[in-house]
Amino acid sequence: MTAPVTSTADRDSTHRGAPAGEPLLAATDLVAGYLPGVDILGGCDLVVHPGELVGIIGPNGAGKSTLLKALFGLVTVRSGSVTLKGEDITNHRADSLVRRGVGFVPQNNNVFPSLSIEENLQMGLYQAPKRFDERFDFIVDLFPTLGERRKQRAGSLSGGERQMVAMARALMMDPSVLLLDEPSAGLSPVRQDETFIRTRKINKAGVSIVIVEQNARRCLQICDRAYVLDQGRNAYSGPGRELMNDPKVIELYLGTLATDVEAATGGH
Ligand SMILES: Nc1ncnc2c1ncn2[C@@H]1O[C@H](COP(=O)(O)OP(=O)(O)OP(=O)(O)O)[C@@H](O)[C@H]1O
Ligand SMILES: [Mg+2]
Repeated sequence: MTAPVTSTADRDSTHRGAPAGEPLLAATDLVAGYLPGVDILGGCDLVVHPGELVGIIGPNGAGKSTLLKALFGLVTVRSGSVTLKGEDITNHRADSLVRRGVGFVPQNNNVFPSLSIEENLQMGLYQAPKRFDERFDFIVDLFPTLGERRKQRAGSLSGGERQMVAMARALMMDPSVLLLDEPSAGLSPVRQDETFIRTRKINKAGVSIVIVEQNARRCLQICDRAYVLDQGRNAYSGPGRELMNDPKVIELYLGTLATDVEAATGGH
């Protein structure tokens, strides 16, 4: 792999390994930020094709969460565009995006602690309450624990269980694409693994996924493709396993973590 990809002329290589055909979700040359005159995203590109599991990794402050928020209408896009199934959704409001099939799970404060699991899932479906039974069956098929413990207050769940409820709530609206912001953050290694397995399971059930992760190496293992963001721009991209073995990506973004994981797992 060569130098970081930044120019529009290099757009094809920005999506290296992406399948042919129209993307489900596409961000093109996104510029976005919070404060006037300060751009956090300086021209980001991302595509998600139907059925793909796409990762976003990169250093702290690179703009990963900002990119997810820009896709979901939570931070203003100043230029560039976001499309869903070819239709422009740039700066559309989150509730309208949910109706159109985009789900978002923020990193923190993603369950209502005083409500039961079942009530949390009802909140996820407030725009289509009649579908509750059908969607609840789908969720319980994926995560049987949630059915067994449907009356339990979400506030009394462990971090990993809360994360499962948050994902399930976003799945209630039957999204075609799910945006996950660091689902494994703050969890023990075993719980982190469960989160990655759960993410794969949701993807295998037919939901396309964009996952932002601090645990870069683990993320690259499960992703079809990934983007490395650095300072609000695409730095590298490609199939997950390819990036994981790319010496430049290892040196710059996987660093000691890669060495630690190799040491801990004996390279497996
Ligand atoms: N609400 C906000 N108002 C102003 N600046 C913000 C806001 N949220 C984030 N930023 C700034 O935007 C930049 C990118 O933040 P962002 O949260 O997108 O990074 P990140 O890649 O998700 O980092 P991390 O890995 O730490 O989660 C940071 O410099 C941050 O300080
Ligand atoms: Mg973040």
